[in-house]
Amino acid sequence: MSIHDDIQEVLFSKAQIEEIVSKLGKQITEDYKGKNLLLVGILKGSIVFMADLMRHIDLKCKIDFMALSSYGDSTESSGRVRVLKDLNTDVSGYDVLLIEDILDSGRTLAHLRDMLSLCNPKSFKICTFFDKPERRAVPDLKADYVGAIIPDKFIVGYGLDYAEYYRNLNYIGVLKPELYQ
Ligand code: IMP
Ligand code: MG
Repeated sequence: MSIHDDIQEVLFSKAQIEEIVSKLGKQITEDYKGKNLLLVGILKGSIVFMADLMRHIDLKCKIDFMALSSYGDSTESSGRVRVLKDLNTDVSGYDVLLIEDILDSGRTLAHLRDMLSLCNPKSFKICTFFDKPERRAVPDLKADYVGAIIPDKFIVGYGLDYAEYYRNLNYIGVLKPELYQ
C-alpha cells in the first residue's frame, strides 16, 4: 500500500512544478527590487510552495503565516472564513505578497484582502500556484502571480490536501473519484 495508489492521474510532475516555481521566483525578484517584501503564507496548503518559492527569491525579505478555515473536510467551499492564526507582523510599511496554494471560489482570498487592507500595507498582491477561474464566485478577485491555470478538477499534493491527507506528495495529482464520492 502506497499513497500513490490513490492517485488516478498526475497533472504536474515534480520537474514541471520546479520549473514553474523558479519562473515565479525570478519574476517576483524583478518586481520587488527596492521594496520591503513580506511573504505571507496561508497555512497549511501553501507551505510546500512557500518553502520552494522563497528560495527562488533573491531579495531581502521576511515571512509570516496565517491560518484560516473555509473548507473543513469537504471538497466544496463553505463560504465562511475563520481566522485560526493571525499574523505576528504589523504589515504597515510592508509590500505584502500573499502566497496561496490554489484560488478556487476566491472567497478565502477576498476575505483576507479586505481584512489586510485595513492594516495599511504599503502594497498588497496575491501569488497563487494554481488558479481555477471557472469556479470563481468573487468576480473581481484576481491573482497577480499565477503558476498554472487548471480546469475544475479537485487536485492534491504539493501541500494541497483532501481531508488533510496527500499534502506530502511531491507532484500534483487527481484523486481516484471513488475516494471522495
Ligand atoms: P476558495 O475560498 O474557494 O478560493 O478556496 C481556496 C482554498 O480551498 C484553497 O486554499 C484550498 O485549501 C482549498 N481548495 C480549493 N480547491 C482545491 C483543490 O482542488 N484541492 C485541494 N484544496 C482545494
Ligand atoms: Mg485545504
